[in-house]
Amino acid sequence: MALTQTVQKGGCAAKVSAAELRHILSQVQFPKPHRELLVDGRYFDDAGVYKINESIALVQTLDFFTPILDSPRYFGAVAAANALSDVYAMGGRPKTAMGILAFPLATMSSDTIVEVMQGASDVVAEAGANFVGGHSIDDDTLKFGLSVTGFVHPEKIWTNAGAKVGDHLILTKPIGTGTITAGLKRQELKENDMLDVIQSMSQLNNAIDFLSDDQINAVHAATDITGFGLSGHSMQLAKASQVTLKIESEKIPVFKLAFNCLEKKFLTKAHRSNADYTNESVQSDRLSILFKSLIHDPQTSGGLLLAVDPLYSPDFIRALKNRFQSVAVIGCVVELEQKSVIFE
Ligand code: CO
Ligand code: CO
Repeated sequence: MALTQTVQKGGCAAKVSAAELRHILSQVQFPKPHRELLVDGRYFDDAGVYKINESIALVQTLDFFTPILDSPRYFGAVAAANALSDVYAMGGRPKTAMGILAFPLATMSSDTIVEVMQGASDVVAEAGANFVGGHSIDDDTLKFGLSVTGFVHPEKIWTNAGAKVGDHLILTKPIGTGTITAGLKRQELKENDMLDVIQSMSQLNNAIDFLSDDQINAVHAATDITGFGLSGHSMQLAKASQVTLKIESEKIPVFKLAFNCLEKKFLTKAHRSNADYTNESVQSDRLSILFKSLIHDPQTSGGLLLAVDPLYSPDFIRALKNRFQSVAVIGCVVELEQKSVIFE
């Protein structure tokens, strides 16, 4: 059974749109946070951070979605790498993971679930974290993900909010997973045509494991590029930091198949909603039509976007190159202008 054929939408493209989410959350009264709560949802950061003592803070996040790939093992691996990514995006290291599983008992064999869990477990192990249980329900369609807890030093948290004028913007993975997996869902592509994309989506965003302490401190802001696309996540980072990001489109790493898929109009609902979400704050009028849809392409388990002290950026690229072949400087941070992000 090809898993993508069992659901309407898959991966991070199935996210509730940012506008809808903001509208809903604005109507909920949340309690006053504890003093120890260092990062909450206010600036669309990737995870919450809660201080335990002077040297340890908890990083907590969860992510789950419907199948974005056909093979259960690949799906499990991608779902796990995607969920773990939000801990890495805060400068943290994952420690424990819990499974979130919805599973159509009547129509799907339990072997499928074994494969999904194995794919996830292997990635959790690679992250050096422990699988500590989870929760499952019987549901109409398969959904899987993880709730992940990690540790970070309270003074070394990476957030959306610290980008400084002059910083270089580094992106660790190519973009285009949204349109390519839309092609798979339409059965116009096979998994074998997109092994590089699957490999990238299953890859941990553990840049921190390859960086020296100085390099880690040179990161002023970070996020991972997921459902809201390069446009949406870079806009969130720019707004939280009160700066403008200039991104040079020809420097953005892109999967080979992406333009081909965009040309064939393999699009998701998120391409539209990301364009709407960023419409007022992102300038993209110099881009070609294909490039415009590429910046709104919803990523699943996309790369980290890091705002890094420019003195450190050449070292950074060298340190990450073995692990992230496509890592590149894609732009820089400038003083706040009218637009939050300018694509050139
Ligand atoms: Co994230
Ligand atoms: Co997330």
